[in-house]
Amino acid sequence: MKTLTVHRVVIFAVTIAIAILAVTHELRAWDNGVALTPPMGWNSWNKFGCKVSEDLLKSMADGMVSSGMKDAGYEYVVIDDCWQISRDADGNIVPDAKNFPSGMKALGDYIHSKGLKFGIYSDAGEKTCAGRPGSMGHEYQDAIMYAKWGVDYLKYDWCHTGKRNAEEAYSTMRDALKATGRPIVFSMCEWGTAKPWIWAADTGNQWRTTGDIVDLWKGGGKWPDGNCCQLGMLDILDLQVGLDSFAGPGHWNDPDMLEVGNGGMTTNEYRAHFSLWSVLAAPLIAGNDLRSMKPEIKEILTNKEVIAINQDALGREGKRVWKEGDLEIWAKPMKDGSRAAVLLNRSASEAEITVAWPTLAYPEHVSAAVRDLWAHKDLGKFTGKFSAKVGSHDVVVVTVRP
Ligand code: GLA
Repeated sequence: MKTLTVHRVVIFAVTIAIAILAVTHELRAWDNGVALTPPMGWNSWNKFGCKVSEDLLKSMADGMVSSGMKDAGYEYVVIDDCWQISRDADGNIVPDAKNFPSGMKALGDYIHSKGLKFGIYSDAGEKTCAGRPGSMGHEYQDAIMYAKWGVDYLKYDWCHTGKRNAEEAYSTMRDALKATGRPIVFSMCEWGTAKPWIWAADTGNQWRTTGDIVDLWKGGGKWPDGNCCQLGMLDILDLQVGLDSFAGPGHWNDPDMLEVGNGGMTTNEYRAHFSLWSVLAAPLIAGNDLRSMKPEIKEILTNKEVIAINQDALGREGKRVWKEGDLEIWAKPMKDGSRAAVLLNRSASEAEITVAWPTLAYPEHVSAAVRDLWAHKDLGKFTGKFSAKVGSHDVVVVTVRP
């Protein structure tokens, strides 16, 4: 009888403790302890497509360090599709020995020796999008191999998956990664088809919300196969509206990788692209050639003040708080109580944009310090509102601190 009472007391105490934890913390069934702020790195696909090799990856790791990108916070060096060629008799994944003669472990070691982290790519189907072997039916075997190679990040694609259920497929690979005991960022590349933002906070560290980005300010054209339609930077931005509440530390919406420096947009358009991805708390995965960056491109990718918006520890995704025609304001609450705001001008001519404090959820009477994060200048104190001239296809990015 006495033991029964003790049991009851213990069960009661544990229930109360769990209830308190649930209200004070965001309880996640799956927490691999990584990506507490949006992952930052580089991926081979946007610039190099299938032309990947160990030499290329090593030179990108070198470039990440020498360009100052590492110092600015970039960490993951990720090989996308086409590193794998077949499976051996035991079903182990085989890297393309022509392009990766030293093997993947050696490549991982090299990347780690630079103080960086190693990312790799696979697919939940039979084949990857480029027709290489996928991981379907080999999830645990592949995860063990990745852990042996020292992989820190897995991008997991969705081609050739047939009728496979996305939640099942991604949970299987999540469990396989978890079973290795190695913390591996799990980057889900399912293109938003099954609305992963609704169910994937316990499955992946980030999930693509759309199809692939093209290196254009605005897309809209058909793909070569006739399918509609290519997504430019602004098309992807528009598709993020309404998704902000689903993101947070360890689980981010991913509007696809950066095109900054790849040549399809102007410098101010790239500045806008980078600023908007930062305010969206998107993973900042560069996709340009890090060996030959123009100074203006390096300046964009390494702007530590803009990166600080993205990496803010509160981990809130920004959202569109105002729109009038081609003029918009995207804003993000920051941990110190300030706001970051991106004033975006989509139009063909310069325009003035006014940020009224109530659009940032501040009362009008508040006086706040405004700082311009591209000019790197304090602009002074303002009460009730702040206005700036914004160039065509450009942004002004400010912090507003009461
Ligand atoms: C898909 C993905 C891209 C890239 C390619 C590789 O299209 O969405 O990001 O990984 O596959 O084949």
